[in-house]
Amino acid sequence: MALDIKVIDKNTCALSYRDALLALTASVEASNAAPDLFPPTPTFLEGILGKEMTKFFVFDGDRIIAYAVLKHLRELPNYLGHLDYPGEHSAMIYFTLVHPDYRGRGINSQITALRVAEAQKIGVKYLFSTVHPNNIASLKTLQKVGLKAIDKRIMFEEQLLRLIMFRAL
Ligand SMILES: CC(C)(COP(=O)(O)OP(=O)(O)OC[C@H]1O[C@@H](n2cnc3c(N)ncnc32)[C@H](O)[C@@H]1OP(=O)(O)O)[C@@H](O)C(=O)NCCC(=O)NCCS
Repeated sequence: MALDIKVIDKNTCALSYRDALLALTASVEASNAAPDLFPPTPTFLEGILGKEMTKFFVFDGDRIIAYAVLKHLRELPNYLGHLDYPGEHSAMIYFTLVHPDYRGRGINSQITALRVAEAQKIGVKYLFSTVHPNNIASLKTLQKVGLKAIDKRIMFEEQLLRLIMFRAL
């Protein structure tokens, strides 16, 4: 499937896409198709459209059908703080959402490979992600681009079970 992908770099905010992203998230939640997704509040969604995030929008015509983020870190967040890695030169494969009508067509695989390529291009040394162990589609994608599980723990205010995934670049 040929995808129309727009990438917005980490120094440029993408808040003009706020309403489109809220609409995508609402339609996914309404169909109960994201049980393992970190609960995305409007404030969280605005944050991931901001700086220090490389933003990947996938379009079908004018419609956004997937969104993904590579989050650049200056230091490790608290929930990764127990790991013995420096935070600088690190990034996270962070938010990922594919519209249910477009799943199973390799879209996440493509936008995740693009995130790894972007991290390599700008000199990231350590790449992290977290995923629910039952989220097979997400877990498989992370494994395909070389991330491995290095820890499993309950984390965040919401007390979510997560595998911590890691790859040195
Ligand atoms: C997880 C998600 C992003 C996957 O997107 P996608 O575009 O359908 O994924 P892909 O088509 O690239 O598939 C990736 C791999 O998972 C497999 N897969 C896809 N859906 C699957 C399913 N329901 N069950 C098992 N495996 C599945 C694919 O076969 C593929 O593996 P392969 O390359 O070995 O064949 C999508 O389901 C989604 O948006 N889910 C809700 C939000 C979410 O959970 N985000 C991640 C939070 S960590």
